[in-house]
Amino acid sequence: MRAVDLIRKKRDSGEHSREEINFLISAYTRGEIPDYQMSAWLMAAWIRGLNHAERAALTEAMLHSGEVVDHSDLPGKKVDKHSTGGVGDKTSLILAPIVAAGGVNVPMISGRGLGHTGGTLDKLESIPGFNTALSLQEFKRVLRECGMSLIGQTAEIAPADKKIYALRDATSTVENISLICASIMSKKLAEGIDALVLDVKTGSGAFMQKEEDSVQLAEVMVEIAKRMGKKAVALITDMDQPLGRFAGHSHEVIESIEVLKGRGAKDLRDLSLELSAWMFFLGERSKSVEEGRKLAEEMVASGRALERFRKGIDLQGGDESVIDDYSILPAARLHTDVISSTSGFLAATNCMEFGIALAMLGGGRETKEDKIDHGVGLEFHKRIGDRVEKGEPLVTIYYNSAAKLDEVKARIAAAFTFSDTKVPEKILVRRLVGV
Ligand code: URA
Repeated sequence: MRAVDLIRKKRDSGEHSREEINFLISAYTRGEIPDYQMSAWLMAAWIRGLNHAERAALTEAMLHSGEVVDHSDLPGKKVDKHSTGGVGDKTSLILAPIVAAGGVNVPMISGRGLGHTGGTLDKLESIPGFNTALSLQEFKRVLRECGMSLIGQTAEIAPADKKIYALRDATSTVENISLICASIMSKKLAEGIDALVLDVKTGSGAFMQKEEDSVQLAEVMVEIAKRMGKKAVALITDMDQPLGRFAGHSHEVIESIEVLKGRGAKDLRDLSLELSAWMFFLGERSKSVEEGRKLAEEMVASGRALERFRKGIDLQGGDESVIDDYSILPAARLHTDVISSTSGFLAATNCMEFGIALAMLGGGRETKEDKIDHGVGLEFHKRIGDRVEKGEPLVTIYYNSAAKLDEVKARIAAAFTFSDTKVPEKILVRRLVGV
């Protein structure tokens, strides 16, 4: 078999056999197919699409590109959550310690920033010393000791996704239901979990902007999980505006710790508790989602979740003093405001533009080799439905280099739409899939 023939076949709308997909993924993972050929195939697959059988074969090939972790020696349920990605989405940092403190293990394999969205690993790496590249042995040890462990794909776990993810980020081949499904489900199913809660974003800051596409993505992922014998549910959640008040790595770590201290933005707290509640329920720790929500609230109110986060940071080599002292995090030297040029009610935001603006400040990657600036960030002062007066700040930009500042400011200013009449607030959890 030759990669060039498979690229041509997909380019011409052909259907791949399971053997062809296995060849593509295993040869690419071994380094026998170069990045440029895989990029060409990804673009062909993005444009021509993959059918049901191809999508299942791709997911399984990527899953079996590495090991499937065996946690059978660890008592208790193992449950994870995965988000399809958005702007300011930092719930993993909050719910992992909540759920671990409540007695359910959270073996979490996360990704880096992708396209305009931020990645859990990049956020955690703003904590000095935090190691997201644990070996499989270390991953299991940390999980046993504190009930949570957050790492990236390794050479052992879903290595195909690790390589393909970085390539998709740099070749504009992210927003495709089959590629997203295979990427997410291959690494989640490799974690050795009993159940999975999916947070499928929808709206102007999501990869799937239309609700019906988000529902379709949720359905295919839930179906694959269930076919592999895992409990799964998907929450379709709002991404028409950033989640919480901040986007940017250090800023999001601080905001997450604030929620664990019982403070922080309401939407971020509500969604983190809701996702935790579902994790408790699917992990059979609570009899209902309602009971799970109460347990999650208790973990925050008692400080147990915060202490669990401290322990998790320490076990992964990070400086746990960050919990009490945010000044150890990288910070931007400069800041400036984007001011509203009109009065009215905030009606909509083009949320993806905020993610792009953050990446332009150095908070994201344009090529897969790019280094991230963990200190830059955006602070959002208004939410959809809020009254805004002319001259009020809409966003504070925290930056280190003014090279692209004018363009960043213009993009952010253009991302707001106002209305003369009151606009309803956004509903955070729009639908459930798989229940
Ligand atoms: N998150 C992932 O892990 N993969 C994708 O393709 C998109 C979001």
